[in-house]
Amino acid sequence: MTTPMSRWRLGISTVLGGLLPWVVQADGDAAAGSRKAIYCSYCHGADGNPAAADIPRLAGQDANALLAKMKRQLPNQDRRHPMYQAFVTGDCLNDREMSNLAAYFSGQSATP
Ligand code: HEC
Repeated sequence: MTTPMSRWRLGISTVLGGLLPWVVQADGDAAAGSRKAIYCSYCHGADGNPAAADIPRLAGQDANALLAKMKRQLPNQDRRHPMYQAFVTGDCLNDREMSNLAAYFSGQSATP
């Protein structure tokens, strides 16, 4: 039986559930992230310090900022783009893996 109250609760949890991915804090596991960082290293460098000037430096950036950028960038990216493909190949498209990667790169020191 659906009471007005249970319908209301369902509504609230749907709204919160929908918002959650966007307010999720980067509490990733840096060690796990380091094992996936190989998929990013071709462009961003193994420690997040890129060799090319036109690739953003990930090393030392705030983990929450990195996570937010991945979440903003990937859904808007062409699926054939090599960066998108790196996430697919590394099985890094989910929140958990992105948080781990963010934790790993934020813990690296930026080299000039
Ligand atoms: C084929 C090269 C390539 C690969 C591989 C790649 N990226 Fe990127 N990445 C880029 C480029 C180029 C940009 C900036 C261009 C843009 O804004 O679209 C970027 C931007 C980013 C940003 C935003 C940084 C900022 O400060 O704006 C993050 C975070 C990021 N990449 C994470 C990753 C992670 C994590 C991986 C590995 C799973 C990865 N990238 C693999 C090329 C790559």
